[in-house]
Amino acid sequence: MMRTQVGIVGAGPAGLVLAHLLHRLGIDSVVLENRSREYIERRIRAGVLEHGTVDLLTELGLADRLHRERMVHHGLELLFDGAGHRIALSELAGHPISIYGQHELVKDLVAARLATGRPLHFEVSDVKVSTVDGVVEYTVDGRRERLECDIVAGCDGYHGVCRPSIPAGALEVYEREYPYAWLGILAEAPPSSEELIYAYHDRGFALHSMRSPRITRLYLQVRPDEPLDEWPDERIWAELRTRLSRRSGFHLADGPILEKGVTALRSFVVEPMRHERLFLAGDAAHIVPATGAKGLNLAVADVAVLAAAIADFYAGSRAGLDAYSATCLRRVWRVQHFSWWMTSMLHRPADGDRFTRQLQLSQLRYVVGSRAAATSLAENYVGLPVGWT
Ligand code: FAD
Ligand code: PHB
Repeated sequence: MMRTQVGIVGAGPAGLVLAHLLHRLGIDSVVLENRSREYIERRIRAGVLEHGTVDLLTELGLADRLHRERMVHHGLELLFDGAGHRIALSELAGHPISIYGQHELVKDLVAARLATGRPLHFEVSDVKVSTVDGVVEYTVDGRRERLECDIVAGCDGYHGVCRPSIPAGALEVYEREYPYAWLGILAEAPPSSEELIYAYHDRGFALHSMRSPRITRLYLQVRPDEPLDEWPDERIWAELRTRLSRRSGFHLADGPILEKGVTALRSFVVEPMRHERLFLAGDAAHIVPATGAKGLNLAVADVAVLAAAIADFYAGSRAGLDAYSATCLRRVWRVQHFSWWMTSMLHRPADGDRFTRQLQLSQLRYVVGSRAAATSLAENYVGLPVGWT
């Protein structure tokens, strides 16, 4: 039997940032990841970091490469009716956002964790969590291990084992499936615009994003059951060109497609985010549709609250741990609302409902025409302050 203060299941952004926050506080942890290092460092996911996320990483000394390589965006564009409208994020909400691939961040966090000399085990299997006594069992290198923890952090994402280890009935589940999914590509092509473009089009939503001056990330609204093999590269580019076109003309640079995938849009929350010694954080506790670019940022916000509560616990107070779930859920529901709102405003229902179309266009015109409405979008998009209630 081994012992640690905090057992962390999952080496995604939530688990790795938590490990660093605890390290800075002098608190021991063991991180258990079921995939290989190569796999998690290559998995293409989010790209937008809120300023609060960047500030936290900077404070932790984990942001040197991020500051060198990120792309700072002071605005974004909403494109509809063939015309683009800029939302001036920095001017309206006081902060820009940063574009930096999640897998690049994961690389930085893994390297920094290994440099601390504290344990991070890859390719563990059959993880079992006992929420009552804080014991985590797992297999690594063919050996079965038992790890005794004061606290277990369930940072193992939506498909992990931590949430299902909580007895049925102890959690309230809130869920919404959308009749939309995103076909996402990563392409070796320079961005065709300096800022992100969220495009509303009668054929469906499209998003122009990027990872670097040489790499673009593009998305198309498709059906949730869309077969990827019906989307040869040329069809993807043609559809992107159509949905991103504008009356004044627009040239979409193309190039080899490096990665292609379909991701469902889903809203999901469990309450509370804690059961006995197990604390859920990030995607293990909640999922947001990607339209608000919030999933990664919300995961980091959770663990910032959790690390402070764990520090209080070792200083003799359980108040922070007892308040953990309620504190996080206030932000979670704000972000759920924003992500649902962006999703509802920008996606076309498959039946082409004309009433919905008029509501969406009216909302878009209001957002770009009213400083108050644009500011509301901007302050949610760049991220509300930590501790916002
Ligand atoms: P994860 O990143 O999922 O990390 C969980 C970790 O736990 C993983 O490394 C996993 O391998 C590991 N794990 C799972 N099960 C076990 C187990 N049994 N034992 C041990 N380890 C385990 N968000 C955005 O903001 N913008 C986007 O564009 C965006 N695009 C996305 C695209 C895709 C395809 C997906 C899946 C998500 C996307 N997200 C996006 C969401 C964002 O990536 C997540 O919100 C973010 O990764 C959450 O971090 P996390 O650490 O909570 O979970
Ligand atoms: C991305 O760059 O992958 C991205 C950007 C904004 C979103 C979602 C994804 O809303």
